[in-house]
Amino acid sequence: MKNRFYITTPIYYPSAKLHIGHAYCTTLCDVYARFRRLQGYETYFLTGADEHGLKIERNAEAAGMTPQAFVDQIILNFQDLWKRLHITNDDFIRTTDERHEKTVQTLFSNMLNRGDIYLGKYEGWYCRHEEAFWTDTQVGNEHLCPECHRPVERAEEETYFFKTSKYVDQLLAFYDQNPNFITPISRKNEMINTFIKPGLADLSVSRTSFTWGIPVNENPKHVVYVWLDALSNYISALGYANEKDPALFNKFWTDENTEIIHVIGADITRFHAIYWPMFLMSEGLRLPDREFVHGLLMMKDGKMSKSRGNVIDPLPLIERYGVDAVRYYLARETVFGSDGVFTPEQFVERTNVDLANDFGNLLNRTVSMIDKYFGGQIPRYEGIVTVFDEDLENLARQTVVDYENKMANLEITDAIMSVFSLVSATNKYIDNTQPWNLKKANSERELASVMNHLANCLYVAATLLQSVLVEAPKKLFDQLGVEEDLRVYDRVHQFGVLGGQHVHKGDPLFPRLDATVEVPFIASLMQGK
Ligand code: MSP
Repeated sequence: MKNRFYITTPIYYPSAKLHIGHAYCTTLCDVYARFRRLQGYETYFLTGADEHGLKIERNAEAAGMTPQAFVDQIILNFQDLWKRLHITNDDFIRTTDERHEKTVQTLFSNMLNRGDIYLGKYEGWYCRHEEAFWTDTQVGNEHLCPECHRPVERAEEETYFFKTSKYVDQLLAFYDQNPNFITPISRKNEMINTFIKPGLADLSVSRTSFTWGIPVNENPKHVVYVWLDALSNYISALGYANEKDPALFNKFWTDENTEIIHVIGADITRFHAIYWPMFLMSEGLRLPDREFVHGLLMMKDGKMSKSRGNVIDPLPLIERYGVDAVRYYLARETVFGSDGVFTPEQFVERTNVDLANDFGNLLNRTVSMIDKYFGGQIPRYEGIVTVFDEDLENLARQTVVDYENKMANLEITDAIMSVFSLVSATNKYIDNTQPWNLKKANSERELASVMNHLANCLYVAATLLQSVLVEAPKKLFDQLGVEEDLRVYDRVHQFGVLGGQHVHKGDPLFPRLDATVEVPFIASLMQGK
């Protein structure tokens, strides 16, 4: 197994404020990065902003600002959101950073010198929204963009082309040798059947119709096509072709012991799974290990879009319900890799059922019983005592194994569900063992074992959930009196480490939400409504 990790989000367009769909992708990457760091692996986590292109130039103009001033102001929203979501990115790359521009210009020159880029003329169907040219077949009789379904227009432009034909066979061979490169697998088939098999045209990689981009050194009336510009962020941020010291790049890109994972939405798979590998091949660089394609978060009335006014801003949700409720909802509600639907009802239900009732209440009951029956001190672990101990302990051990395997494979939702199965089983264990009856029957040894098992299962759940929840595990550890040295992730591999600590009753981890108040509140956050 590789023992170092580089995980990236797409770099989002600062054309408007970010919505919950962007927060979804970044949060899931953060969960993964935290998980790997907790395991003790060196991990580099990158996010950023894709600031060039016609769309930004136009939005800035409409706002009466220069493009740079426009993006500078929107970037503040990005950074504020990531701070409030406790996103632990190691760097934030902007495509207007000088370091990035240097890398892109070098890549372009190298491609030109190698003969992978040539100057030609493009005539075709242009979609202003996607900033992409399409062929007759792709736009069909209706002349609609195959990506966004907006009308396209006929356009002609002098442009540089990247010779995709030179790398198609190599790309297909790479897909064959690396069956997990694009996951879920359905996305790989889509790439092959929709884009590669019908014949991949050479890619236009420069524009002369606007100026808000990185100029081509050799011919400055051209700016580099936004996608060649944007995709390069994954290496420019590591210092490739812009930094004298190659240490960071060597560590997180060149070294085969590093697993490189790009997490992307289905809308941008084509660029990441076809063109990005080709650009890297041209430059003689290794390819990423994995393009993980997550699904889209939709709204009840379809795709989220600012113009439809059905976009949810995550900031007021964090403000009202706390960062953990929002992170939990995002990571848990929708299976990572499938599409999901955001509804206020589900948000409230998820918080109440999983966090307030199952998890928070279990802690509350456990601390109260330890107070009542043992003067607030968690009894020592004595192995298997009651007839219910063995199953619970086995489940706790198995949960750690399952959680780690699933997380490693980016099955983040399943990983979380396995922790909540343990939480449910622990609640059930209270029903089975009936501590109040053990007390009545003076079964002191059994009662002690039950209290110990409850505390230890909560400890396992909270330790594992540290990648997802950033505040609750600490509160739980405080209430159970867990010492600093036991808060180290690795301790979760041994069952029964708690015993002897003094508990301190605190506030509920997650207050129960009143759906009659909160559902209308969340619904009111949909912009434009
Ligand atoms: N700038 C390009 C990406 C360049 S990467 C080298 C871009 N930006 S974007 O702002 O449109 O962001 C697209 C990405 O945001 C999607 O691929 C996805 O990860 C995320 N999402 C945007 N809307 C989303 C949902 N409704 N649901 C889930 N994720 C969403 O494309």
